[in-house]
Amino acid sequence: MKEVTVTDSVLYVGCDDRDIDLFESQYRVPNGVTYNSYVIMDEKIAVMDTVDPRAMEEWMQNVERVLDGKGPDYLVISHLEPDHAGSIQRIAERYPAMKLVSNAKVFAMLPQFFNFDLTGRTVTVGEGDSLELGSHTLHFVMAPMVHWPEVMVEYESSEKILFAADGFGKFGAMDAEEEWTDEARRYFINIVGKYGPQVQALLKKAATLDIAMICPLHGPVLKENLGFYIDKYLKWSSYEPEEEGVVVACASIHGNTRKAMQRFVEILREKGAKNVVFFDLARDDMAEAVASAYRYDTLVTACCTYDANLFPCMEDFLYHLKIKNFQNRKVGIVENGSWAPMAGKQMRSYFEGMKNIRIADPMVTIRSTMTEENEEEMKALADALLAK
Ligand SMILES: Cc1cc2nc3c(=O)[nH]c(=O)nc-3n(C[C@H](O)[C@H](O)[C@H](O)COP(=O)(O)O)c2cc1C
Ligand SMILES: [Fe+2]
Ligand SMILES: [Fe+2]
Repeated sequence: MKEVTVTDSVLYVGCDDRDIDLFESQYRVPNGVTYNSYVIMDEKIAVMDTVDPRAMEEWMQNVERVLDGKGPDYLVISHLEPDHAGSIQRIAERYPAMKLVSNAKVFAMLPQFFNFDLTGRTVTVGEGDSLELGSHTLHFVMAPMVHWPEVMVEYESSEKILFAADGFGKFGAMDAEEEWTDEARRYFINIVGKYGPQVQALLKKAATLDIAMICPLHGPVLKENLGFYIDKYLKWSSYEPEEEGVVVACASIHGNTRKAMQRFVEILREKGAKNVVFFDLARDDMAEAVASAYRYDTLVTACCTYDANLFPCMEDFLYHLKIKNFQNRKVGIVENGSWAPMAGKQMRSYFEGMKNIRIADPMVTIRSTMTEENEEEMKALADALLAK
């Protein structure tokens, strides 16, 4: 595993998970994922969060190694989701003198997950409270519904470190050779995307802090160019598109809708569309398709009719967009059906339930295979979508 250094007194004890089949039983992680945890060594020793039970014993060994025979004074709990909190009971039993530091919501929910006696072991903190460790001081900032109700982040003021919970995290193990943005976007939009206003509220509070380093609970420690990452978070949480471009998302059984949409991609390119990204929703990564829809300003959905409804992968896609509060986009609709096309109406009704979605005309109806007339309609749709 790649060595991760934070500072001389803040030590990384997290773990890579390269074997997980699906993160949160939903997200493909071809390059794995990390569960980050840190130890602050000072007069008092604080362990910052735990890890998923999948990595529990490896993490426990990392903690024991850096503690070198000492016992921690505190375990700080930012978030109770099991990918971070899953090893709390393990460390609480290993170090009976250690206190658990978190907010009241965490301590109310904790017994739902674990079965050990908290009596005399909790230190409850709230917004603006701090905890002195010696030369280090942790300041607690509540971040409700980013993306669970009990979430909080911690700011360490002597070294100016923000422990950002799931914020600023990304998929991918520590040594994954990939740039930050795509996997951070896929992570953020799919996991936290619904909670834009709450993220904005947290960013507002963070803007008052002098931050030199961000320690998230997944992915690399961010030490440079923090403005870049913060700008991405401001954008993603505002539901504004990042870039001009068209996502063409297609659901096809026998391939005729897909073939038409491949032609539509060519038409868009012929007409000068800047970025055109194509997804076959039955095969491509759903979370990537959702994240791409957020990235660009225009979305086209094309679906064949299936038992008077949508083909399931399109329903799944639109359901994800709906619950992630997708909004502020231009949309085009293409349907296919051999005897009674219904998919267009169903897609339209999804979009009508979302905020500020402008549906472009014409809606294109294909009856089994694309005709020349369909091609003309698709050209008109492309014009409407690309018009400023
Ligand atoms: C299981 C199944 C159910 C279908 N249900 C409908 C339907 O309710 N109404 C309709 O017009 N076409 C229906 N179709 C036909 C397809 O929508 C149509 O053949 C379309 O052209 C398929 O496009 P594709 O080649 O992109 O899969 C159904 C096809 C299948 C295989
Ligand atoms: Fe989480
Ligand atoms: Fe997480």
